[in-house]
Amino acid sequence: MTTPQSTVVVTGDRTTGPLHLGHFAGSLQTRLQLQDQHQQFILLADTQALADHQGDYHGVRQAVIDIALDYLAVGIDPQKSTILIQSMVPELAELSFYLMNLVTVARLERNPTVKNELRHKGQERDVAAGFLTYPISQAADITALRGTLIPVGEDQLPMIEQTNEIVRRFNRMVGKPILRECEALLSNTTRLPGLDGKGKMSRAAGNHLSLSASADEITAAVNRMYTDAQHLTVGSPGRVEGNVVFSFLDAFDPDSVKVAELKAHYQHGGLADSVVKARLNEVLQALLAPIRARRQELAKEPDAILSMLLCGSAKARQTAVLTLHKVKTAMGMYYF
Ligand code: TRP
Repeated sequence: MTTPQSTVVVTGDRTTGPLHLGHFAGSLQTRLQLQDQHQQFILLADTQALADHQGDYHGVRQAVIDIALDYLAVGIDPQKSTILIQSMVPELAELSFYLMNLVTVARLERNPTVKNELRHKGQERDVAAGFLTYPISQAADITALRGTLIPVGEDQLPMIEQTNEIVRRFNRMVGKPILRECEALLSNTTRLPGLDGKGKMSRAAGNHLSLSASADEITAAVNRMYTDAQHLTVGSPGRVEGNVVFSFLDAFDPDSVKVAELKAHYQHGGLADSVVKARLNEVLQALLAPIRARRQELAKEPDAILSMLLCGSAKARQTAVLTLHKVKTAMGMYYF
């Protein structure tokens, strides 16, 4: 085993449902690798999720448990990675409060991720303050846990930039390097397409395949997967680009030589969609069967999941308390 280095990885999910194959191809695989090399905090962003899902406390709570089950089922090991619930580390909220004064409303409104998300919601200006300020809470998550390496999708890059702006401003204000700057780690497979081939896989778009999908659901998903609308007869040449079945084979088939052969044959003509789909079905069944089985086992003991989350949150809290102590001391906020 590699000795853990001093790099602290902080990563998080605001997702409000069980994880899907898109998460697996992106963040989950990255986190599995990182947990053997670094000290890793994985944060379940329940507080932040409420900014998106106002009042849906039950839904968010259920999502926390579902996602924790998904983590463990794919092999995130709580002995190596610290899994925490955002709301169970109150110092994160406390730090957010101080950092709020270091960011202007105009700067928040210019954050490209927030802007984009607001446009999608059709909300623009009519937005909860908690949503507008979520980049600040994210900066607090990262800095309170002293993260230096942050695995994120491309859409979250503006968050890292804004975090570093806040860090520099804070350190300048107190005249000491109290908070640390961080660096984004981009995973290259974050853009697994949806089953319909329209954009990336997402629950919101309904084009996802859950990690806990049954064998029949996997087969059904593969059958309805988008291939090449021009590929009308088996004999005619087919397109591999934009063909969801091939994108999935690229992402998940361990036998890349076989994938290359299938691609060549398909492009030449004479290879039926059904044959390529049969291969993908085989690959996905093999990938997901052990994950599903492990998840079912773990779900039988919800108390064990909750106590793991409690321990992870308590451990993360030790780091956050220490950061807050340094932050408040540097700000002159100590009275005794
Ligand atoms: N904003 C992230 C998302 O939408 C979740 C998140 C919250 C996060 N805090 C974080 C990610 C800290 C990385 C680091 O999924």
